[in-house]
Amino acid sequence: MERPTLHGTSVTLRPAGVADVPALTAIRATPEVRLWWRGGEALADLAAEITADLADESTPTLVIEHEGRVVGAIQWHAEEEPDYRHAGIDVYLDPSAHGHGLGTDAVRTLARHLVTDLGHHRLTIDPAADNAAAIRCYEKVGFRRVGILRRYERGADGTWHDCLLMDLLAEELS
Ligand SMILES: CC(C)(COP(=O)(O)OP(=O)(O)OC[C@H]1O[C@@H](n2cnc3c(N)ncnc32)[C@H](O)[C@@H]1OP(=O)(O)O)[C@@H](O)C(=O)NCCC(=O)NCCS
Repeated sequence: MERPTLHGTSVTLRPAGVADVPALTAIRATPEVRLWWRGGEALADLAAEITADLADESTPTLVIEHEGRVVGAIQWHAEEEPDYRHAGIDVYLDPSAHGHGLGTDAVRTLARHLVTDLGHHRLTIDPAADNAAAIRCYEKVGFRRVGILRRYERGADGTWHDCLLMDLLAEELS
C-alpha cells in the first residue's frame, strides 16, 4: 500500500523505515505510552514487534516528525471490502511532545489524506474508554463518540477493559 509523505501545520508524516526502530522503541517503552499502547515486556520484544509492524503492508506506518525530530508514529488499516469500506487509525507520541497539539495535527493530516486522496467516506478510532487525552484529541479532529466496546482490550494487568468506538464521516473532518 502507498506510504506518502504528508505535511501538517507543525508535523511531517513520512514513511517509517528500519532506521526509525530505535527511536520508536524508545518512545513505545515510556510508561506514558505503554499505559495505552502495550507491547512486548522486554525492549527486544518491542523492537521486534515494531520491525514486524513496519513490514506489514496492510497497516502502513508513518513516523511523526516535529522540528526535525521523530516524536511518534501513526498508522492506518483499510477495510477494502466495498460494502464496508473504511479506515482505522492508531497513533502514539513521545510524552515530551504531549499536549502541544501535535497529536491533533497528525491525526487531522492523516485523516485528510485518507478522505481526500484515498476516498474514504468513514474513519474509525478506538481509544481506551478512560484515555481522556486521546478522546479529546480525536474530537478536535471531528471524530464522534459511537459507543462503548465492552471489555474490548486486555491491559498490562491481564484484565479486559472497555474502549470507545469513535468515527468520523468525511464531511465532519475539521
Ligand atoms: C493521545 C495522543 C496521541 C494525543 O496527542 P497530543 O499531542 O498529546 O494531543 P493534543 O495536544 O493535540 O490534544 C490533547 C487534548 O487533550 C486534552 N487533555 C490532556 N489530558 C487530558 C485529560 N486527562 N482529560 C481531558 N483532556 C485532556 C488536552 O488539554 C488537549 O485538549 P485542548 O487542546 O482542548 O486543551 C498522545 O497523548 C499520546 O501519544 N498518548 C499516549 C499513547 C496513546 O494514548 N495513544 C492513543 C491510543 S488510541
